[in-house]
Amino acid sequence: MEGPAGGGNGKTGPALLFGTLLPKSPVLSFRDRHHTLAARIRELDRAYYLEAAPLVPDQEYDALYRELLDLEAAHPELATPDSPSQRVGGAPLPEFASVRHALPMLSLDNTYSEEEVRTFVERVGKNLREIPHTFTVEPKIDGVAVSLRYEKGRFVQGATRGDGQTGDDITANLRTLRNLPLSLEGKGLPEILEVRGEVYFPTAAFAALNRQREAAGEPLFANPRNAAAGSLKQLDPRVVAKRGLAIVLYGPGHCEGLECASQVEWMEKLKSWHLPIPGWHPQCADAEALVAAIGELDRLRRESRFPYELDGAVIKLNEWPLRERLGLTSKAPRWAMAYKYGAERARTRLNAVTFQVGRTGTITPVAELEPVPLAGSTVARATLHNFDEVERKQIRIGDAVWIEKAGEVIPAVVEVDLAARTGAERKIEPPAECPGCAAPLSWDGIFLRCVNPACPAQLKRRLLHFAQRSAMDIERVGEVLGGQLIDRGLVRDPADLYALTLDQLLTLERMAEKSAQNVLDGIEASRRRPLGRFLFALGILHVGVTAGQELAAHFGSLDALAAAEKEEIEAVPNVGAIMAESIHAWFRDEGNRELLRRFAERGVDPQPPEKPAAGGPLEGKTFVITGTLSASRESFVEKIRAAGGKVASSVSKLTDYVLSGESGAAKPSSKLTQAKKHGVAVIGEEEFQQLLQ
Ligand code: IVH
Repeated sequence: MEGPAGGGNGKTGPALLFGTLLPKSPVLSFRDRHHTLAARIRELDRAYYLEAAPLVPDQEYDALYRELLDLEAAHPELATPDSPSQRVGGAPLPEFASVRHALPMLSLDNTYSEEEVRTFVERVGKNLREIPHTFTVEPKIDGVAVSLRYEKGRFVQGATRGDGQTGDDITANLRTLRNLPLSLEGKGLPEILEVRGEVYFPTAAFAALNRQREAAGEPLFANPRNAAAGSLKQLDPRVVAKRGLAIVLYGPGHCEGLECASQVEWMEKLKSWHLPIPGWHPQCADAEALVAAIGELDRLRRESRFPYELDGAVIKLNEWPLRERLGLTSKAPRWAMAYKYGAERARTRLNAVTFQVGRTGTITPVAELEPVPLAGSTVARATLHNFDEVERKQIRIGDAVWIEKAGEVIPAVVEVDLAARTGAERKIEPPAECPGCAAPLSWDGIFLRCVNPACPAQLKRRLLHFAQRSAMDIERVGEVLGGQLIDRGLVRDPADLYALTLDQLLTLERMAEKSAQNVLDGIEASRRRPLGRFLFALGILHVGVTAGQELAAHFGSLDALAAAEKEEIEAVPNVGAIMAESIHAWFRDEGNRELLRRFAERGVDPQPPEKPAAGGPLEGKTFVITGTLSASRESFVEKIRAAGGKVASSVSKLTDYVLSGESGAAKPSSKLTQAKKHGVAVIGEEEFQQLLQ
């Protein structure tokens, strides 16, 4: 990430260098200096995270942050809970405590029709008789609802919605949100301020997160909302801090000493206390103005003008005293409603649920549907993503469901038609045992996992992962042949591929001598693939293509990596503590060591990367790759490295070139947008070839 490093990541110069910007006076006590530094860092954080308008270069921020940390190291009493250094606190929690909400957290009545918006306005008008009133419209942020509590301006507690009455205490996780102030200043601050809002996963970061997870063999998040929910459920705030979540606030909870008469005034107050609010919340006098505002918001949403996904508009009666006259139903206020924007969707029946086992044992629930046409194809299966999503959407077998194509590719079940329930629907129970091997399953956050390393369903996925193009690139070993080899017991792990004989292959269905020989040739050709690909192919949890290459470049041999301590592994660029831990543990496992011995015995000899030629044509140049290129992304990474260049995963001002292939998407990739922002050159394959020469 760029901008305020927040971790004081060492790019520091002597503090005096910046003395002109934040003068150090010899008469100031260390206490005053700490106060000045903390205030300045808060101001810089606000500018960066709240207003997206950085005030100083990263280096300058880092220097101030480092000075703050040094002061706190020398005087630990300065590190009070609201110090900017205290966002990521303490050890992982054993579990979340429960919090009872002082006021229940309600939901909203939904509609998809403008007609119902007009009916709502009429109903409110009737109820209020002649009393003048107005409405506001806000984005309906598709995130995770939370309630925050500030006492005397200090953030003291944050909780999830839970069942509306009681939620989880996620204070430590919320403290890591960089656009959330830990202490408030400003006029009219109430003694007790409870404020409600939505934690979201910034859309720009979401695609990158899922790409990373896919490469690393980790289960994908369904959408930014699901990623935010999964992140907030982490018991270790250090993991949450890395995810880069953010928050928007829109409503009040229980407050003491608050003077406020309307939603418009509330938003102004939150803003003056530097709390993040939706950047767009017009006031409307009547139904026509509301319908126009809803249309305007839809346009802004399509232009991706918000950092979060929004699935609708929330209409609220502006005047607070009048809200009380309208009151609540059992679960939603009568003074507000949500208008939802619809995507292309189809309605069908969910006949059954099956469970797919992934390479690392993650179990994904899959909906088996009554086939239905949608956006140009017939859909008979749709992902239910994970059990958190199943529960949130209350999906049952036999339900009439709405499906959508997420990102135009994978169909997903988005909503149940609850009104069509007959009572005969059955709950979807997470399986107790693995559908592939019958071993008991265990929970890992919101994901259910099979932890049996010998599970045949996992073996098939692992074999496919091993043989795929960006890994060992073994032609012909795909879904069908891989499945047969495992079902027939000819292959129990990827090392067995290298002991296959022609006679064995000829026992398989529809396998003539010529194709059997082709299979063997393909396997043969893979024995000396680059070490980086081999490391990726092994399927070590969290190790993607890029990490495999970085590890190969750093350690130079399998043996060196196998013998490395955790700290040495963590020192490799782009390898964090969690990945280092996973790699270290993988190489300590006796079964994995045995696997490596068998690879070696069977002549698998991964090649260390060539040392980039000093003075190579791309020496000192950093590339970021986006879009689809004419050959695999890995082969381009290999070319760049061999010519002395580096490859990074995101665009910053340190990037020299963005190598851009075809893009299938309607919108330009976020990397191209970033390139434009930082003035980085975008080149195609042809220009890339020229650079290589
Ligand atoms: S006001 C009394 N405003 O949508 C109800 N909710 O479907 C207060 N949401 O539970 C909700 N953006 O989590 C409100 N601008 C916004 C919102 C918003 C998203 C969520 C919220 C609520 C859910 C209802």
